[in-house]
Amino acid sequence: MSSKKYKACISGVHGYVPDYVLTNSELEKLVDTTDEWIVTRTGIKERRILKGELQGTSVLGVRCLEGLLEKTNTNPKDIDLIIVATVTPDMFFPSTANLIADKVGASKAYGFDISAACSGFLFALTTGCQFIESGTHKKVVVIGADKMSSIIDYDERKNCVLFGDGGGSVLLERSNDDTGIQDYILRSDGSGSDMLCLRGGGSLRPASIETIKNKDHYIYQEGSSVFKFAVTNMADISEEIMKKNNLSSDDVSYLVPHQANKRIIDATAKRMGVGPEKVLLNIEKYGNTTAGTIPLCLWDFEKKFKKGDNLILAAFGGGFTWGSLYLKWSYNN
Ligand code: COA
Repeated sequence: MSSKKYKACISGVHGYVPDYVLTNSELEKLVDTTDEWIVTRTGIKERRILKGELQGTSVLGVRCLEGLLEKTNTNPKDIDLIIVATVTPDMFFPSTANLIADKVGASKAYGFDISAACSGFLFALTTGCQFIESGTHKKVVVIGADKMSSIIDYDERKNCVLFGDGGGSVLLERSNDDTGIQDYILRSDGSGSDMLCLRGGGSLRPASIETIKNKDHYIYQEGSSVFKFAVTNMADISEEIMKKNNLSSDDVSYLVPHQANKRIIDATAKRMGVGPEKVLLNIEKYGNTTAGTIPLCLWDFEKKFKKGDNLILAAFGGGFTWGSLYLKWSYNN
């Protein structure tokens, strides 16, 4: 029996990417790579980088939230809760959500961060939903944002071509009808943790001369192993949520996938039986912004959506973490 009092819906979305564009041809000058290799293997043509001193992930969060508040005509003081999904918080503590709340004047909101890597936005979105569904909160903001350039080694070709900086935010409110978040499936498997992680800086390996020498403060990834897990799990969980909700491929209006690699997205779409016209892609412009990809994708394609459209959101990331979410879009543009 459901304990839901209300259905939660996304009532607005806004994104932000920094101005600086790091193109494949610029990367060709930094490391031994080619535009052709990057495009064929990943689908990425360029990514955005947040430049400047003392510019953390909160800058991305503040910019996308300010735009969201303006767009939805929301007073920051009416926000109850801000949840930020990120693996690149400004600091270990206080939470980036706290910093963002302060900077946008959300003085009545409390906030916290969620760490689930590339699945972070889905984990945060479903967490936010609980507060709306139970009736305890009326306005919850969910942000997915990452300054991946802060943990990337630009002397090494493997990872620097994949990631970029950016973030997106959504406003969650009570739905007035049957649109909104319908269902979700979330999973994690810590046995994959060594294949994609940030080894240094935590309580296991606190920052030291040694961790710096070992480059432990940069992302570590066994790319081809992660690729195999991502393909299988993102496709499986997307198919699973369709079956669970009796959705045929015709019922699905759009797939909103985490943007890590176009080949992972293609495999997911194929399994779901949806054609390329239903697959929302912006990986070529932004690369992998980790927790930022899904809200950035919703923002980029918002104008396409019509009330009642069935969207499947799907992600896979470090941890390992993965998930899918089925929502009916709640407004027309
Ligand atoms: N430019 C040129 N060559 C590169 C390169 C680059 N940027 N990065 C790796 N290579 C080389 C490798 O050294 C290797 O060369 P070798 O065969 O001489 O050893 C070759 O390209 C193939 O490497 P491999 O890692 O097997 O390629 P791949 O087809 O698996 O693609 C990734 C690499 C990283 C693009 C792919 O594995 C991937 O996307 N993985 C998932 C990453 C991800 O999305 N993680 C985030 C969470 S989902």
